[in-house]
Amino acid sequence: MTKGIFIVLDGPDGCGKTTQATRLVRKIQERTGHHPMHLRDPGGTHAGEKIRAILLDPELNLSTGMEVFLFMASRAQLVEQILAPALLEGKVVVCERWISSTIAYQGVAGGFGADKVAEIGKHATGGLVPDLLLVLDVPQEVATTRMQRSKDRIERKGKDYHGLVREGFSATLKLFPKSALIDATRQEEAVGDDIWARVEKLL
Ligand code: TMP
Repeated sequence: MTKGIFIVLDGPDGCGKTTQATRLVRKIQERTGHHPMHLRDPGGTHAGEKIRAILLDPELNLSTGMEVFLFMASRAQLVEQILAPALLEGKVVVCERWISSTIAYQGVAGGFGADKVAEIGKHATGGLVPDLLLVLDVPQEVATTRMQRSKDRIERKGKDYHGLVREGFSATLKLFPKSALIDATRQEEAVGDDIWARVEKLL
């Protein structure tokens, strides 16, 4: 699975990862002529999108364990159906979120345990590790002002939980050798330039 390049953008809700992932995909296309694949996790497959709907449904009450295994189930399908074949073909893949999110949200904030999540993640993904994981870091006050739409089930978990998520992401970086924290409080363009400077070296 090493022919392509697997880039993950992750971070707390409201960190701006969708904006930056879209921007990065466009930039890679402009600079290299290569059309990167843009994926989101959870989701990205027909079955994965259905699991995503369950995970984010505010009417459901899911245990942390159920969350862990549903996020991993969606990810296992994404790897087998889309990600592994794309990387084998030599594609560049930009993915929003990854096991790093399950470590920060369910592992640390939810109390499931970061190491346990990382171990389950290895089995769910066949040990696929990003060539680069960039965590966009923002304090909650900034993130909240950026989120103007109605909140999903996990976004509704409250201040304490989301404070731990941010800490969880810092812990996550230690588990991924090729990773970095990006200051995402800056203007969109400055964050984009920082991301590009790191990605350019891989291409
Ligand atoms: P998204 O809207 O940023 O794609 O993410 C959906 C929500 O799911 C978001 O609140 C973060 C949360 N999430 C987890 O709690 N654990 C995970 O493993 C992933 C991938 C997302």
